[in-house]
Amino acid sequence: MGRSEAGTRRNGGGWALVTGASAGIGAELARAFASRRYDLVLAARREPEIDALGRELAAAHAVRVMTMPVDLSLAGAPQAMAEALRAAGVEVAVLVNNAGVLIEGPFATEPLDDVVNLLQVNVVALTALTRLFLPAMIARGEGRILNVASIAAFMPVPRLAVYAAAKAFVLSLTEALAEELHGTGVTATALCPGLTDTAMMRGSALGRPIPAAMVMSPRAVAEAGCAACLKGETIVAPGLVNRLIAGSASMAPRPLVRAVGGAMNGGGWERLAAALRGFGGAGGRRS
Ligand SMILES: NC(=O)c1ccc[n+]([C@@H]2O[C@H](COP(=O)([O-])OP(=O)(O)OC[C@H]3O[C@@H](n4cnc5c(N)ncnc54)[C@H](OP(=O)(O)O)[C@@H]3O)[C@@H](O)[C@H]2O)c1
Repeated sequence: MGRSEAGTRRNGGGWALVTGASAGIGAELARAFASRRYDLVLAARREPEIDALGRELAAAHAVRVMTMPVDLSLAGAPQAMAEALRAAGVEVAVLVNNAGVLIEGPFATEPLDDVVNLLQVNVVALTALTRLFLPAMIARGEGRILNVASIAAFMPVPRLAVYAAAKAFVLSLTEALAEELHGTGVTATALCPGLTDTAMMRGSALGRPIPAAMVMSPRAVAEAGCAACLKGETIVAPGLVNRLIAGSASMAPRPLVRAVGGAMNGGGWERLAAALRGFGGAGGRRS
């Protein structure tokens, strides 16, 4: 377990633990919390990346930084993280469950190891970390959980079936927690980005070709997520298009929702446009 620190005083918000901080949205979430004077625990597998980010943020914002190389696909990793932080005397004020992987393709041909790995990182580790850190937050009467879901949480997505189902789990868990936590001083927020310009999106066939207007920067997504988390909002879907998709998916007939999900992942944008036109004419009926 690597460790680097700068400064000795406790910053305004306390410690924010960010998983998947080595790249993409997670690195930007770390920047967003650092700019609000949170001390940081940066967790991911790639140690050089989190070490470099830690040095950058410690220098720029005078926050304390602890780096925690960890593979969240391994059973017991969340427990080891909690134990290491307890031993270091770090109380986690904000838990940011951002680490995630994506697999795509027909479910029947996806390697089982990849499926299990996705569930371990995107679902099991996120749930375990939440369960491990929440009781102390409740006991202190303050705390924030920020779970990174996706716009895919709102609809089944053919050829992205396991990923979308895992994100639906994250959204459901977070919404239920938000209700359970009412009045405790602790809040739970689901960040539901749409297409975001990171290695995950660039490495996938998601919605190619992608209209530029549909893609957000990881910085804008992280800023929206950080702000919503600190305000205690339950769901944030950054960007107008994503808010429209999230809102529509909860009202539209399920066959249409499935068609939109398929169109977004390989069915082509013409098909999505056609599906949206059909949705407009469906009048919000459910089936
Ligand atoms: N990009 C999009 O369009 C988009 C849209 C909606 C939601 N999201 C969600 O946003 C989150 C961040 O994704 P991103 O787009 O920023 O992707 P990314 O650039 O690929 O970053 C993924 C992060 O997860 C970490 N990670 C992956 N496997 C891990 C493991 N086994 N143990 C520990 N950390 C692991 C990676 O760190 P290491 O490789 O160093 O371990 C990396 O920091 C994910 O939950 C993703 O599902 C992304």
